[in-house]
Amino acid sequence: MISPATIDEVKNRMDIVDVISDFVSLKKSGQNYKALSPFTNEKTPSFFVVPAKGIFKDFSSGKGGDAITFVMEHEGMSYAEAIRFLAKKYGVAIQEEQAETSQESQERDALYILMNFAKDYYRDNLLKTEEGRSVGLTYFRERGFNDRTLEKFELGYALEGWEHFSAEAIQKGYNRELLEKAGLVVKKEDGSAYDRFRGRVIFPVHSISGKVIAFGARMLGKDKNQPKYINSPETEIYHKSNVLYGLYQAKNSIRQHDNCYLVEGYTDVISMHQSDVDNVVASSGTALTEEQIKLIRRFTENVTVLFDGDAAGIKAALRGIDMILKGGLNVRVALFPDGEDPDSYSRKVGTSAFQQFLKDHAQDFISFKAGLYAREAGGDPIRKAESIKEIVQSISLIPDPVKRSVYLQETSHQLKISEAVLITELNKILIQERKRRDRDAPVEVMPLPAETTGEEQTISKLDPSTMVYYQERETIRLLLNYADQALEDNKVASFLVQELEDVEFTNEVFRDIYGRFKEGVERGDRVDSQYFLQQGSAEIKKAVTDLLTSRYEVSPHWRDKYKIYFPGEADNLGSLTLTNVLRLKFRFVQKMMDSNLQEIKKAEEKGNWDELDEALQTQEGLKKAERELASALGIVVAR
Ligand code: UTP
Ligand code: MN
Repeated sequence: MISPATIDEVKNRMDIVDVISDFVSLKKSGQNYKALSPFTNEKTPSFFVVPAKGIFKDFSSGKGGDAITFVMEHEGMSYAEAIRFLAKKYGVAIQEEQAETSQESQERDALYILMNFAKDYYRDNLLKTEEGRSVGLTYFRERGFNDRTLEKFELGYALEGWEHFSAEAIQKGYNRELLEKAGLVVKKEDGSAYDRFRGRVIFPVHSISGKVIAFGARMLGKDKNQPKYINSPETEIYHKSNVLYGLYQAKNSIRQHDNCYLVEGYTDVISMHQSDVDNVVASSGTALTEEQIKLIRRFTENVTVLFDGDAAGIKAALRGIDMILKGGLNVRVALFPDGEDPDSYSRKVGTSAFQQFLKDHAQDFISFKAGLYAREAGGDPIRKAESIKEIVQSISLIPDPVKRSVYLQETSHQLKISEAVLITELNKILIQERKRRDRDAPVEVMPLPAETTGEEQTISKLDPSTMVYYQERETIRLLLNYADQALEDNKVASFLVQELEDVEFTNEVFRDIYGRFKEGVERGDRVDSQYFLQQGSAEIKKAVTDLLTSRYEVSPHWRDKYKIYFPGEADNLGSLTLTNVLRLKFRFVQKMMDSNLQEIKKAEEKGNWDELDEALQTQEGLKKAERELASALGIVVAR
């Protein structure tokens, strides 16, 4: 552990402009600096550095913080790694605290050095020995790997024979015990040892910062009695579940494309690089782990799973999708034709057709799953119901309730099923999940949506303005149906009018209707739907008629059986109105952020720093409001 004194010293010495300039070319603009975001692929600069405050802010990705945060985000480092990096830059001597004994850290260092030696050794074998060139290099060439690839992935070759490597390592002064700890030799019962990797081509596995931490070794030819790959065992420096093959080579590109392709094997990663798709990592033949997903998350929130289209590949893809959703990331899927993997397919069709394939075939997980079951189900309604369950099951894993509801809307749109049905299904799953885990835990069920009338079904991309529209509509629906209903110490209409004081409706028809209700509350006279149906314009009459139709209700059976308090309708107006107020504000804030971003860009272009500063502060404030609303939103806790 790094001592607090060291951390303080680093903080004192670091200079945000200096640190960021190592990675990004900054342009002076007034007191501040700006640049194109290093985290996204933007065309107009929205990345700012404010030296006076020692902070940066990236409006296109939402990232921001001090120089340490920047290094962590940009280099994918942990806090401690970033401190070490900055300490080195500023010549601060690092004092360690006793959490890790110096003996342990020395041992880890020794392992890194040995692994690096082994990597160089295998590389030399490949390029400089007769056997390496005729066997190993020939093999790589047959697979189409070029020199650049061999170098980028530091590929190598282990000579045939029991102790070529150990003899060399020992001669160079590495002790036997260390060789065994590194997994490079295997110890026999009698105490003697032999090389783990023999007569195979070598794929080094790198840590996120590029150190070699393990090897995968592929056999040549087709000996049925041997495993295709022999891999390093777990060691002090290699924890398989924490590593993604290719991440070191891919990390910058993943950030630039804001997407990470996930494949199964070493050779898939390498072949994709050769096809100029270099934002790719492999889980290396095992099921994806939570830690691996967190690693990806350091660089992007978007994952595209690329698997073989055979049964095993589909199964792996399905499992991967659920893990990724659970990890809070967005997931897309592309399956290759039966029997093809990214490696074979890219070599078969060539670079540009391969890239086109990825563009054309990556679909979101909802349509992927829907398509999969549609194929099986044909017209069978029972099978169709099962497929809906499957999709909702995946959605139930998404931790963020706001995102969950967007996906439900998308599913409703794609499968032409009412959102209410989907939410009911989702709530069923959440309840079952509770029963499985802990009977007494509160269940978070989702409130039912405003009734869908078909017009929403045509909208799949949900921009803030559209979302504002739906929430305004819901406010009006509540007013028309329940204006006079009592809440705890208020009535629906006066509650809404109070809460929405600072909100100006964007839709004209809704604004008119709302204005009339507001007047009613202020004057103390009663306004109801009849009023509009008699006196309103044609447009108002139409809107009111649409909104008066009754909505989906949940069976009361549920309430009795599971003691679940459903925000059904009349019996739960409190939470319904509150949710509506929060959502409306949430969407408004998002809409304002969109337009404020334009202000930022304008001020930037004009070079008006006061305006810029003000707009930047506004954006901060809006971001904060958005976060607060999001966390208050989307969940109704019931027992
Ligand atoms: P594959 O069998 O798909 O291998 O296993 P591959 O990488 O495509 O290799 P080629 O193209 O046949 O040469 C996928 C991954 O599973 C792990 C490896 O990480 C491999 O890249 N694996 C596979 C093993 O660890 N051991 C094995 O015996 C087989
Ligand atoms: Mn393969």
